[in-house]
Amino acid sequence: MATLEIKDLHVEIDGKEILKGVNLTINTNEIHAIMGPNGTGKSTLASAIMGHPKYEVTSGEIILDGENVLEMEVDERAQAGLFLAMQYPSEIPGVTNADFLRSAINARREEGQEISLMKFIRELDKTMEFLEMPEEMSQRYLNEGFSGGEKKRNEILQMMMIKPTFGILDEIDSGLDIDALKVVSKGINEMRGEGFGCLMITHYQRLLNYITPDHVHVMMQGKVVKSGGAELAQRLEAEGYEWIKAELGIQDTEAVTEEA
Ligand SMILES: Nc1ncnc2c1ncn2[C@@H]1O[C@H](COP(=O)(O)OP(=O)(O)O)[C@@H](O)[C@H]1O
Ligand SMILES: [Mg+2]
Repeated sequence: MATLEIKDLHVEIDGKEILKGVNLTINTNEIHAIMGPNGTGKSTLASAIMGHPKYEVTSGEIILDGENVLEMEVDERAQAGLFLAMQYPSEIPGVTNADFLRSAINARREEGQEISLMKFIRELDKTMEFLEMPEEMSQRYLNEGFSGGEKKRNEILQMMMIKPTFGILDEIDSGLDIDALKVVSKGINEMRGEGFGCLMITHYQRLLNYITPDHVHVMMQGKVVKSGGAELAQRLEAEGYEWIKAELGIQDTEAVTEEA
């Protein structure tokens, strides 16, 4: 079993504090969902875990199996088994999807242990078929001209091929029609198991109709303010966030308020 621990994490962007003490522990074989209104710091948490340079960790810890993630460069974090599917994936013209994937897989392997081209192609074909992606997508430049749905499907393809220990999925469900949502969910469910833990960030409960999370957390004002099981997401679907705000005496849910 592997564990990703986030302890009292404080993060600033341009001198503004966005995360104000996030605590979260994720084990492999668990799926966690983080929900919350817009602007509460969900994407900031994802970026801070992966080491985006704009996000400055001012205090707190991120520990992956006893190792200090905050001391690692972005590529070292990926090598250590972390994977982020971004809310807005970048386009990389000139690099094909297949080349990108093969490099990403090999980056996690020792020199001399690279995946063979045959094995890579076999696995790529199989996974693309599973995700109902047309074969030609492997030869297109990464995310260039991909529709919103294609980008999200492609993020899941990457995750299934790279096989990270922890996958962080930021709004993987946004902009998806119901068929694409089902395919994306199928991919995440396929990864579920002993060697994989997942943090799904989502604004809507809809995704959770297809993937039953083990734990659900609500983020407001740059903190996790409430945690529970799958039933918490159902209550949010039925009642929205108002009851949590009332319960905790929160007026404004955003991480950064106007006057701050
Ligand atoms: N790169 C950035 N530069 C400046 N402000 C940012 C940046 N990223 C996020 N913020 C601010 O941080 C707050 C939280 O944003 P974000 O983490 O994207 O929230 P969420 O994903 O929950 O909608 C917002 O007020 C947002 O404007
Ligand atoms: Mg976001």
